[in-house]
Amino acid sequence: MTGTDPLLRWRKEFPILEKTTYLISHSLGAMPRRTAQSLQEFGETWATRGIRAWEEGWWEMPVTTGNLIGSIIGAGPGEIVMHQNVSICQSIVTSCLDWNGSRNKLVTEGLNFPSNDYIYYGLERQGARICPVPSPDGIHLPTELLLDAVDEQTLLVSVSHVAFRSSFIQDVAAITRRAHEMGALVIADLYQSAGVLPVDVRALGVDFATGGSVKWLCGGPGAGYLYVRPDLRSRLRPAATGWMAHRHPFEFEPGPIDFADDAFRFLNGTPNIPALYSARSGYEIVNETGVETIRAKSLRQTQRLIDLADAAGLCVRSCRDPRTRGGVVVVDVPKGDEVTRELARREILVDYRPNAGIRIAPHFYTADEELDLVMKEIESIATDPISKRLRNRFD
Ligand SMILES: Cc1ncc(COP(=O)(O)O)c(C=O)c1O
Repeated sequence: MTGTDPLLRWRKEFPILEKTTYLISHSLGAMPRRTAQSLQEFGETWATRGIRAWEEGWWEMPVTTGNLIGSIIGAGPGEIVMHQNVSICQSIVTSCLDWNGSRNKLVTEGLNFPSNDYIYYGLERQGARICPVPSPDGIHLPTELLLDAVDEQTLLVSVSHVAFRSSFIQDVAAITRRAHEMGALVIADLYQSAGVLPVDVRALGVDFATGGSVKWLCGGPGAGYLYVRPDLRSRLRPAATGWMAHRHPFEFEPGPIDFADDAFRFLNGTPNIPALYSARSGYEIVNETGVETIRAKSLRQTQRLIDLADAAGLCVRSCRDPRTRGGVVVVDVPKGDEVTRELARREILVDYRPNAGIRIAPHFYTADEELDLVMKEIESIATDPISKRLRNRFD
């Protein structure tokens, strides 16, 4: 790879980049080489320390690992706990709230990740009224539409910071201001923003934030994070809970829980320790690289992709405006799913989403030449008469 991009020094830390054009970090970031050592450390600790591992670090790991995320999203030490995934974190948050009263409205934006909505609609049986705010074009969601939907009956507003389908950045600060004026709480899903653009949960003012490891943070599967505004903690009593959330877990008291005062309050049962080992190398590397630096490169490379798509006459179905553009460029071509499969056969990894197109995600380890290559290949597959004929067989 040529060029003077200092971030390319990271390429040797990500084995998959040796053979594969890896443009899918919005879905599964590349595995850092040092993660294998970390997993080996887990095995050795278990094998040699046995049960003592709990008091030598494992017990606190959901919080100590969360601290590595805290420095990426602007949360303080001890403000984040790790769980298995976003869906669990969202379920814990919604289980803290009382959906029976007259303030029972949950506003969810139309670009939200569907898993979150599945959880919200499940709350209808507890009395929640779910108010979706659709996106007019499937790409953007004008902030005013969301602001208008929030009223005195709103209990929770759910917004993804960056939309998974179109990479549109939402004005979470404005939405939070409005929600707080109306006495509502806000949960932000940071999965598609943390690690690729600067996030500051305190500046945004959100009450809760969730996210996971496997995308821009280059961690392994099974590690999601939950941030709860520290001053809210004592008011919240999650119904989805467990013994780790107890003030004195090792007293094993029967009956209702006496919640811990710190972030352990939002834990439940035994944490997924190997997943935490597999997640932390990515967090360390993102911390070391710096999200501002990553964002500067991402803006330059996403613009390059857009320019290449325009030059090839391909349809861009994601945000163009750098102020609201996340880390992904979506290119819509006929039979995008099959084009994506052919790209994989050519060792170029991207993905395809219905009602969007081919999602292409450069990250800090991406070389400019890889962007040129993916666009050249998409153009050639999409216009190649032989592959066109082959593809017609699927019609
Ligand atoms: C914005 C967003 N939220 C949530 C999820 C899913 O989270 P999980 O599988 O951790 O529940 C995804 C992705 O797959 C996502 O892009």
